[in-house]
Amino acid sequence: MPPVAELEVTIDSVGAQGDGIAETPQGRVFVPFTVPGDRVRIRAVAQGGAPSRDGERAELLDIVSSSAQRVGPACAHFGECGGCDLQHWQTAEVLAWKRQQIEVTLAHRGLTTAIAPAVATPPRERRRARLALRRVAPGRAHSRDGDQMLLGFHARQSHRIVDVQQCPVLNERLAAALPALRQLGPMLLRRDGDLVLEVTDTEGGIDLVIERAGEPNTALRGELAHFARQRRFARISWRGEQDSELIAMLAAPVIRFGGVPVELPAGAFVQASPTAEAALLAEVRIAATGAKRIADLYAGCGAFSLPLAASAAVHAVEGHAESAKALDKAARQAVARLTVEHRDLDRRPLQGDELKKLDLVVLDPPRAGARVQCEVLARSKVPTIAYVSCNPATFARDARLLVDGGYRLEKVVPVDQFLWSAHVELVAVLRR
Ligand SMILES: C[S@@+](CC[C@H](N)C(=O)[O-])C[C@H]1O[C@@H](n2cnc3c(N)ncnc32)[C@H](O)[C@@H]1O
Repeated sequence: MPPVAELEVTIDSVGAQGDGIAETPQGRVFVPFTVPGDRVRIRAVAQGGAPSRDGERAELLDIVSSSAQRVGPACAHFGECGGCDLQHWQTAEVLAWKRQQIEVTLAHRGLTTAIAPAVATPPRERRRARLALRRVAPGRAHSRDGDQMLLGFHARQSHRIVDVQQCPVLNERLAAALPALRQLGPMLLRRDGDLVLEVTDTEGGIDLVIERAGEPNTALRGELAHFARQRRFARISWRGEQDSELIAMLAAPVIRFGGVPVELPAGAFVQASPTAEAALLAEVRIAATGAKRIADLYAGCGAFSLPLAASAAVHAVEGHAESAKALDKAARQAVARLTVEHRDLDRRPLQGDELKKLDLVVLDPPRAGARVQCEVLARSKVPTIAYVSCNPATFARDARLLVDGGYRLEKVVPVDQFLWSAHVELVAVLRR
């Protein structure tokens, strides 16, 4: 048994994962679900030796006195469900903390700039979620009242699934679909096991992707098609080890970008919150003022390309073949000034000649960032870069490359796309 120490501490600050931080004689400890000013009793469990060691996580036993920054959580599952980290903290404080996370991350790379106040997103707006579905044999720890189907999110740092009855993050249609999705359990899981249900709310209804190894048999296909009709889902797809297979389509799973309808490929990326998408686009549009030729890199299904193509010639580049195809199809039907290229930008970044005539490059890479493309951009003459990032650490690395190449980091706008999570997103503008 590791040594256990109970301590009473005051929380001073909040770390990058959203945990409160307290100073103890043994060093800093991270205490989940606490905020600055909380006086708390904790159990610090060391992995060996001292009662607590610098940087260790502690268990929150009791709140001795609450900070003025503490608020009541919006959801009964908060604390247990790993989907949210920060419901117990005032929104204004969370937004200030997210802004500060970006400031600190940039400072580590020797970068300073004007950082705007973070843009908030409202509850009940998330249009996309990945839910875990698990069948548990009766008598197992997680089965309750004979209910053997668990649908929800993983508990924090655990494989346990918290069976979610409500979710104030999801939009109305997704939240209302939770009971129906749970009913898929007996159909999809004949015995103990797990799978992932990825749901996206579209104009045609819910687009469901079932992630599961193996092939659905004919009977299951029929049952799923019946379920889609009964529940008015737009589409159900089955994602095996290789690719996605269509099971049923009742309506086109369409999302509009700049008013242009795009039929989403199964599992394609969309920004999780429409408010966040609008905030990111607003900043990209400001950067695009006066631009005649734009490249939108990591373009997805066109959240930025399609609106920008209303006033400029846009070349969209996307690495996911189906997304590039869907964007190309939408562009052909709607706008003449958008060209689409399917290309892996990490292996084949846009090069000197391709960058020469551009007024603006928009970058919106995945969490890994756009290092290879930024190395080329740093040597280019492109006057303006708008960089949308879901990972401040890789953004700071790439921004450093660009600044070393002669760009000025003009501004950064934090966007709180993932409400109540420790996740930080931003849009930045860099100019030569
Ligand atoms: C964060 S999403 C942004 C999509 C789009 N800008 C939007 O707002 O909806 C990143 C996109 O980059 C694409 N992607 C990932 N790796 C890539 C690569 N190496 N080359 C090109 N595109 C890539 C993904 O398929 C995804 O569509």
